[in-house]
Amino acid sequence: MTEAPTPPAEAEDVFGVEFETVSRYVDILATRGLEWGLIGPREVERLWEHHILNSVALVDLIANGSSVADVGIGAGLPGIPLAILRPDLRVDLIEPLLRRSNFLTQAVDDLGISSRVTVRRVRAEDLRASYDVVVCRALAPLPRLVQWCASLRSRDGIILALKGRSAADEVAAAATLLARQHLRASVLTVRAHPSSEPTTVVRLGSDRAS
Ligand SMILES: C[S@@+](CC[C@H](N)C(=O)[O-])C[C@H]1O[C@@H](n2cnc3c(N)ncnc32)[C@H](O)[C@@H]1O
Repeated sequence: MTEAPTPPAEAEDVFGVEFETVSRYVDILATRGLEWGLIGPREVERLWEHHILNSVALVDLIANGSSVADVGIGAGLPGIPLAILRPDLRVDLIEPLLRRSNFLTQAVDDLGISSRVTVRRVRAEDLRASYDVVVCRALAPLPRLVQWCASLRSRDGIILALKGRSAADEVAAAATLLARQHLRASVLTVRAHPSSEPTTVVRLGSDRAS
């Protein structure tokens, strides 16, 4: 039986009254997530720092009351920790694979967040909906990510893509595509807590004043 990892001190600061709920999600990932093959055995000890705190590093970039789509959510990252931390958000979890969407539906029910979090088993490019904020993490290289996510953005909406250190190079390489889509990119460094590891986010919004 796998032991759930010990949370770092900053996790309690970041999640406050929602700490108990996010701890239950970590337990679900470390047990059912592992059994179902959604989390690798070596990921279990890195769940808090590498997955949970990394997921919520972009939280301050999302306006109060936003509708949010998380595209390609896998086992629930970043959308589930974000929805737990921010009860003001309505969050759709977009994931085409049956096994993963079944896992997500069960997790959302177990965590008691189903009134504001919906699992949608669909490929992003087949979804007809629009959101204030589209988030994604480890989804695809920037050109494909834009192809999948741009139409899900409302007129003044934004895309927030959690990316690795090559983010600035990816943005530079995609300059022509971004201009064609009327998207302006900023590369931001964010962290969940002053003592957390920094994370890079590519923020894409309209290049036209609204
Ligand atoms: C590498 S995983 C990342 C999962 C999660 N975001 C994370 O950070 O752990 C990419 C996910 O994108 C999903 N995916 C692939 N193509 C997709 C598409 N066209 N639309 C939506 N999701 C897609 C895959 O099924 C997979 O769950």
